[in-house]
Amino acid sequence: MTDNTTQKLNEYCTEIEEHLKAFTADKPELQGIVLEAMEYSLMAGGKRLRPVLMLEFCRMCGGDHKKYFDLACTIEMIHTFSLIHDDLPCMDNDDFRRGKPSCHKAFPENIALLAGDALNTLPFEVISDSALNGVIDPRTAVMLTSVLSKAVGANGMIGGQVIDLRSESKEISIETLNTLQEHKTGALIEAACVMGVIVSGRLEMIGQAAAYASALGRAFQIVDDILDVTSTFEELGKPIGSDREQNKTTYVSLLGLDRSYVEAGKLTQQALAILDEFEDNSFLKELTEQLLSRRS
Ligand code: IPE
Ligand code: IPE
Ligand code: MG
Ligand code: MG
Ligand code: MG
Repeated sequence: MTDNTTQKLNEYCTEIEEHLKAFTADKPELQGIVLEAMEYSLMAGGKRLRPVLMLEFCRMCGGDHKKYFDLACTIEMIHTFSLIHDDLPCMDNDDFRRGKPSCHKAFPENIALLAGDALNTLPFEVISDSALNGVIDPRTAVMLTSVLSKAVGANGMIGGQVIDLRSESKEISIETLNTLQEHKTGALIEAACVMGVIVSGRLEMIGQAAAYASALGRAFQIVDDILDVTSTFEELGKPIGSDREQNKTTYVSLLGLDRSYVEAGKLTQQALAILDEFEDNSFLKELTEQLLSRRS
């Protein structure tokens, strides 16, 4: 990435993290531990890809993205909730996340579960309060709620996690793996891009944003599966070889490493081509390319 793009990404991340931190600042004595657990996982790092996507789609569509950092945090809250639950012993049973002990290793398992639950409802509080405070109009709030809740639910990310669990130790087709990925990872990435367009008001661009997200989301999961095999714990901040240990069907287990790389490259090219339909796209183009060669 050029220095300019790296700087812009760092500025985004710093501001996103400032906004994220404010949501858990107040910790009432009796239930404060759950807010501590939420804060622990929210502030543990991470690429902040999803909020950046939302803000960039808003900006590329001519919206005033600076007003929407709290709304961009909603997607990171849902993502963090999904990771806390994904790591639980009854799920992928992973002890590290973002270079630190997983939430259920740093806190009691029941508190980690509840921290995930609380991070699944906080976004809807933020969206409705944004309408009540006049940051967005009520119709926009309803649209955001509709997009985000569908992306999380049984026909979105949670559905994908179910397909993932039910596919363990089984031979599944590439079509089923694609459906799994579209739900597990794709839905939230799509919601991020579409929500950015919604707050910008350029609703006619939703289709293009969703098409970009579909290609990027698949490339992103393929790279995640590749890194599970080729990266190191130090680089990735989460256990290596977790997929194999859990007998997961992944792009790597199904296609092999070489074909997985080729497929992720093709999808990245598709995503880049769709970005041509947006103005002022150079930051997101560079970020999209960088995600293909990411090491974490
Ligand atoms: C990891 O997501 C889980 C997947 C959906 C593949 P990220 O790679 O975006 O995780 P962080 O937020 O950077 O830790
Ligand atoms: C998890 O996919 C995606 C969600 C949390 C919805 P993975 O199980 O592959 O994610 P990592 O590799 O643990 O980050
Ligand atoms: Mg998983
Ligand atoms: Mg996992
Ligand atoms: Mg993975």
